[in-house]
Amino acid sequence: MRDRRPRARPVKSALGRCILPVCVFFALFWLSRASSETETGTITASGASLSKSSTSTQKRDAGSCDVHAPTRLRQRERRERLFGWGRAQGALRLLRGDGIEIKLRNAGRSAGRGAVNRLDKYGFFVTDPVLSESEADITRAHLLDLLRSSKTYAEDEGCLGDLADCTERFDLSLRLTKTVTRAVNSIVSKLKPALVEIFDSEDAELVELSALITCAGSPEQRVHSDADSIGNGDRLISVFVSLQDTTADLGPTNVFFNSPNPITDFDYFSASQMLRRVAEELNNTDTIREHGLGDLYINATGMLDITSEEGVTKAELDFFNAHVRVDETDNTIAFYPPWSDAASDRLILGVVGATRQGSALVYDSRTSHRGGRNTRGARVQLMFSFQSKRALISGSTFTMRRRYQRVERLPLTLIQRATMRAFGQEFKTSPKAGAWTLRTGGKIRLRDFPLRPDASDREREWVNEDLVRSTNNERDFDVDGLHLDGADI
Ligand SMILES: *[C@@H]1O[C@H](CO)[C@@H](O)[C@H](O)[C@H]1NC(C)=O
Ligand SMILES: *[C@@H]1O[C@H](CO)[C@@H](O)[C@H](O)[C@H]1NC(C)=O
Repeated sequence: MRDRRPRARPVKSALGRCILPVCVFFALFWLSRASSETETGTITASGASLSKSSTSTQKRDAGSCDVHAPTRLRQRERRERLFGWGRAQGALRLLRGDGIEIKLRNAGRSAGRGAVNRLDKYGFFVTDPVLSESEADITRAHLLDLLRSSKTYAEDEGCLGDLADCTERFDLSLRLTKTVTRAVNSIVSKLKPALVEIFDSEDAELVELSALITCAGSPEQRVHSDADSIGNGDRLISVFVSLQDTTADLGPTNVFFNSPNPITDFDYFSASQMLRRVAEELNNTDTIREHGLGDLYINATGMLDITSEEGVTKAELDFFNAHVRVDETDNTIAFYPPWSDAASDRLILGVVGATRQGSALVYDSRTSHRGGRNTRGARVQLMFSFQSKRALISGSTFTMRRRYQRVERLPLTLIQRATMRAFGQEFKTSPKAGAWTLRTGGKIRLRDFPLRPDASDREREWVNEDLVRSTNNERDFDVDGLHLDGADI
């Protein structure tokens, strides 16, 4: 359900269809996600077949997927240097590089309430470690070992899953092996109070479980969010747990504020619309050119032509993104106006989720984010998502192993149909059933934790089997007992 390939839908029309405050929460752009991989050279169950390795395997084993862990950044000063906190001023000092944990001044009365507050204010939060260093080490080694058993590992492209900017990025959906189960149980036991508070129920469904791995060479992704539209009150929450200290050169997830909040007056979308307001203020072709905005707002006949399109055009967004940079001293991400050197002119929009080993980045699926550029080696994350019980979330891609999913046909109300149309989503109609779509849910609920493993750590057959081929899950499922046996609906 996230970080998927971009859809054909043009930005302009997607944005043009929403009213801004709605967009802020509901718009999403392109999909994709990142991660990387590597391993420390353990012999694996599948080692025999992999050892006649392809050049791609060799390249990955020989460096691009090296693990730079454990780095053991237990001492705060060392983390400070690597993750860059301590120099930021004011509210920004709260964006700690030791995880980008955002603490509200008076937060902390209850961990659960704090989590909901932070999710609603910022769209994300980072926790202290929810896995110990040794648990994280063991889990990382296991996930890399699984990845090495994947056919993709030996292929040139190095792309597993339905990801955008999918070079050296692997999204391996997981079985509940012994090690995966132990790690997930451990993480959920710590996060459970927050998750219960967020969902207001223990019936939330596990709808994603995967290893997200990137290796050196994976590029920065485009900004995207994971869900287009969400039924009233439904939530989809994703948890990324770093299995090594994830410094900026490993390409941690960048997360953007989706609404004004105590740290910034701007969300990503209203900041990108700012360019148009600047051009209106300048109101003069010469000065508009001097400010670098000529290509955007001066047309072929040399006249000032500021579009009145609703939403942001692709050209505006490209220009905007080209001037978005990370401040390595505090891991903030800001738009730096090309016409100004004044630090005070930058618009802070988000933060780099550089986190220490074992900590979790938790974010709402509507939060804009992107995978960072990895120049160093394996970045391994265990990730999972929960959605509200029986949620209808369009735009998500459910990649969980089929054995853990339930797919059903859902008749759509007028409002649901209109919402889906507004986001360019398709649904089906049939004379008998009217308008309907498929809803994917998870069989495993929050209340079912701790889970029991259903595979040993040594089993490998499943790794290349049963991969979800259709992101809409329209194939191969036993939908409504239709016994499709692999046929399209
Ligand atoms: C821009 O300048 C023109 C001509 O001087 C003026 O008529 C117009 O009102 C100005 N627009 C804005 C937005 O200030
Ligand atoms: C350029 O912009 C002016 C003012 O908006 C408009 O009247 C004119 O038709 C535009 N020319 C072209 C070629 O788009």
